[in-house]
Amino acid sequence: MATLIGGLGTSHIPAIGGAIHKNLQQEPYWKPFFDGFPPIHQWLDKAQPDVVVMFYNDHGLNFFLDKMPTFAVGAAPLYHNADEGWGIPTLPPFKGEIDLSWHIINTLTGKEFDVTTCQEMLVDHACTLPLKLFWPKGECPVTVVPICINTVQFPLPSAKRVYALGRAVGEAIQSWGSDKKVAVIASGGLSHQLDGERAGFINKEFDLQFMESLLTNPEWATQYSIHELVEKSGTQGIELLMWLAMRAALTVGDKPSVRKIHSNYHIPISNTATAVLVLEKV
Ligand code: DHB
Ligand code: FE
Repeated sequence: MATLIGGLGTSHIPAIGGAIHKNLQQEPYWKPFFDGFPPIHQWLDKAQPDVVVMFYNDHGLNFFLDKMPTFAVGAAPLYHNADEGWGIPTLPPFKGEIDLSWHIINTLTGKEFDVTTCQEMLVDHACTLPLKLFWPKGECPVTVVPICINTVQFPLPSAKRVYALGRAVGEAIQSWGSDKKVAVIASGGLSHQLDGERAGFINKEFDLQFMESLLTNPEWATQYSIHELVEKSGTQGIELLMWLAMRAALTVGDKPSVRKIHSNYHIPISNTATAVLVLEKV
């Protein structure tokens, strides 16, 4: 069976792509964010995942308001980046892992999750940036199964439902008949609100409590409704649902099954609180 080795989380602000493209990582504005990554690169060098399953949210590129699946699983051989701008201008498409895609789709459907299956799927900065941040040099060495969770148009899935989805995806990965090593990625967050009366809203206290809960009490955030989570984290901060799914995927039974390798938290990039985290499965 495949081995689930751990989970990684990162924010995915489009301007990060511009900073990578222009080589600004050591500039004072960017350094505190990019300094979060070398320990993660060291861990990845050792852990060497072959495949990543990425929880992310599309921002109106592949799914627009006319058709908005709650949960969508990619089952494509290649994922093309067609970002709306600001990001990395030229990224080659990255490779899918179709066998795992269908194993996840079948497992989720068997567990009564009604998912949208996508044999073609354009991906935006939410999908491309984590790969470029975690593997900055050369070609991306992992294949990918993107899982899109709607955080764009209400109604959104509850935190409890997202946690259950993450659990089921973790079980699917660990029952995949393959000798490959798999990591789970969460792309998004943390607290931010880009528009409306609260534009610029950031909630450091809540973010740090949420990150801590992923270690000590992973279901903590499921006590809150979506509206409570938006109130605490901002309209787009609700992308923290991805982190919840990633953490849930690493849970087996009732065991506290992870140890923290590294985390970083920095305010702000753009209007956003940024965070990175690596959890190794034990
Ligand atoms: C921005 C966009 C995002 O998708 C996000 O998650 C955070 C910030 C931005 O445009 O600044
Ligand atoms: Fe986003």
